[in-house]
Amino acid sequence: MNVIETKELTKVYGDLVAVDNISFEVRKGEIFALLGPNGAGKTTTVEMLEMIRKPTSGEIYLFGDKPNEKIKERIGVLPQEFQSFERLTVRETLLYFSSLYKNSVDVDELIELIDLNEKRDELYKNLSSGLKQRVGVAIALVNDPDLVFLDEPTTGLDPSARRNLWEVIKNLKRQGKTIFLTTHYMEEAEYLADRVAIMNKGKIIDIGEPNELIEKHGGKPKVKIWGINELEGYEYKKMKGGIEIVIENEKEISSIISSLDAKKIKFERIEIERANLEDVFIKLTGRRLADESNN
Ligand SMILES: Nc1ncnc2c1ncn2[C@@H]1O[C@H](COP(=O)(O)OP(=O)(O)OP(=O)(O)O)[C@@H](O)[C@H]1O
Ligand SMILES: [Mg+2]
Repeated sequence: MNVIETKELTKVYGDLVAVDNISFEVRKGEIFALLGPNGAGKTTTVEMLEMIRKPTSGEIYLFGDKPNEKIKERIGVLPQEFQSFERLTVRETLLYFSSLYKNSVDVDELIELIDLNEKRDELYKNLSSGLKQRVGVAIALVNDPDLVFLDEPTTGLDPSARRNLWEVIKNLKRQGKTIFLTTHYMEEAEYLADRVAIMNKGKIIDIGEPNELIEKHGGKPKVKIWGINELEGYEYKKMKGGIEIVIENEKEISSIISSLDAKKIKFERIEIERANLEDVFIKLTGRRLADESNN
């Protein structure tokens, strides 16, 4: 079953087509990532799905229905650049948000689930950015939603806080929740997402499993061997300081190594080069996904 379906969804702000005629499905239980650079239209898309913003045109179906008030009880939202009440503790914050819903989860169980036990009585303002984001995810879960929207959940976090949050998100999937994630980090999409939609300038350029997209657009893996300038029996290309062999599949790596070994060929270094989603993005759009100075 599809939890989300959009048909020709479009949002125009004045002269700007922020979301340009996009159609996609999100399947039950998957982590779906919308991957794109700043200004691609990710938040606008998410906000339309969350029923915060009205589409200019096109259709949205959530759990098979047109958006309606009842559906709000089944969705959870972590907005981009989320902030909460500075002077409430973690537990007070979650108690407040859960009081807004008819059906809400047990706050102490939620604290346990999101691994905030040690910080339950800490004021929000005293938490690290990683823990603040975790409170945000916990708030998104107070109504025990089936579908959770996380808009750039790890932007601005240090690598270890980012990894911690990735595990929290994987855990939500294990609980059977459907996750709609936006990100401009290709590693995040590659690590977390079952399927990725690549978005640029309001358009979705391609959708698929990360590996599928990499195979389709990223080209074949290459074995690079430094310190030799030929290898009989293989089709190779010379590069500075060594040779490069394009391979069809990973099994060929061991055959190349055995061949070097059998021929007693001494080499300096061997490296496997695989494409990643960043390469896919560059191939499809001619631009880089994330500017490191701008995250
Ligand atoms: N309320 C608004 N009014 C006018 N223009 C807007 C509005 N909200 C967003 N935009 C514009 O629409 C485009 C898409 O913005 P959006 O926030 O959806 O992108 P994004 O992919 O979420 O970017 P980011 O990675 O920076 O969060 C941008 O050019 C933005 O400036
Ligand atoms: Mg955004």
